Amino acid sequence: SLAARLDGLALVNGVGANRLFYGAIPPDKVVELAEHLGTAGLVHPFSTDPGAPWARVIVEKPFGRDLNSALDVNARLRSVFSEEQIFRIDHYLGKETVQNILVLRFGNKLYELLWNQSVIDHVQITMGETLGVEGRGGYFDTAGMTRDVIQNHVLQILTLIAMEPPVNLDADSVRDEKVKVLKSLRPFSPGDVARYAVRGQYTDGIVNEGPGHDIDAVGYTREKGVRPHSRTETFAAFRFLIDNWRWAGVPFYVRAGKRMPLRTTEVSIELKAIPDVLFARMECARVNPNRLTFRIQPDEGIVLRMSAKEPGTRMRVQPVEMRFDYADEFNKPIPDAYERLILDAILGEAALFARADEVEAAWTLMGPILEGWDRSPNPPEPYFAGTWGPRGADELLQRDGRSWHNSTIRGSSAAPFSNTQVTF
Ligand code: BG6
Repeated sequence: SLAARLDGLALVNGVGANRLFYGAIPPDKVVELAEHLGTAGLVHPFSTDPGAPWARVIVEKPFGRDLNSALDVNARLRSVFSEEQIFRIDHYLGKETVQNILVLRFGNKLYELLWNQSVIDHVQITMGETLGVEGRGGYFDTAGMTRDVIQNHVLQILTLIAMEPPVNLDADSVRDEKVKVLKSLRPFSPGDVARYAVRGQYTDGIVNEGPGHDIDAVGYTREKGVRPHSRTETFAAFRFLIDNWRWAGVPFYVRAGKRMPLRTTEVSIELKAIPDVLFARMECARVNPNRLTFRIQPDEGIVLRMSAKEPGTRMRVQPVEMRFDYADEFNKPIPDAYERLILDAILGEAALFARADEVEAAWTLMGPILEGWDRSPNPPEPYFAGTWGPRGADELLQRDGRSWHNSTIRGSSAAPFSNTQVTF
């Protein structure tokens, strides 16, 4: 009856019967929805003729829960819609600051020259949330942090940081480059899972949910909808390597957690240290390496850490920051990610949506890690709600002689950088 009604309206009003379906429902239901839409004759076949009526479907994550289920979901969606008609939404791609990664990288000669293994020491991506599972315990307990945000949002950010320049900005050119990165990520062997993947689960603790708003947070297994002996991870950290010419040997450390001390999503690119000859001769302290940080949210902007001479008669080297803040620079609100993405779906612009092979490549990487965890006798490491995750996450970097930097948000209690000084 919906099909008849829509066809009737199109006829009476003499308009093209374009249709955009939006399935913000679990993956098995999305497939069922698509199949029913097809059976009901609501899906116009894909056409490159700009005058032909179109039908598209927006699909929300999770796109499957492993490679096999993703292949199945994709195949079943494609039995009704062609790939050009399927818009897999990842709202991180709709965030202004995520899109700005491409502009900063490819719109500035300065940065593109640095973007490789001879200059960059390592990359860190942090996605911290102060929230817990917020009434979504039933869903989250079957997903966990890796499926909920790493397989999609965090890997999408990683691909934008690491990809080669696309030949142009059309959907397939951009997505081709992102797929290449995903395929270059070194797969985890069973031994790597124990060494380079860390999972944690929060226990009772105190979380600051805003200025002057500390709450007593209950541990994950006491949250509504969560199984009392659940081994689902609420925190995950990984050390990835990208085996390609540009990134060989540069670790990408990523972590995401619920009930962290701050809500923050940041990408930090740390450059190699300067040769230890000039300042070190005068005093043994080390000059901090340059670090470029993309603050994805909140307090959106970019921060470049540099060394500068502190004014005075003595030669004192201090770390200083050069900041670009969206709020100060552009006197207009940052649009919500969904605003941009739904408009793009209406316009048929697919560059900011995940293509089937991207989703499948991401599962190919994450699948063995999740299976390794399932087989492991060890449960996730506990961490207190309101802290930066379990000890294993710190050890992941300490083994490489590095440490996490916790935030560059203005006024955050987490120190932005150590105040190492060199004086002579
Ligand atoms: C969603 C996850 O995709 O992203 C949530 O399912 C998470 O668990 C959310 O909280 C985070 O999005 P944002 O835009 O608030 O960082």
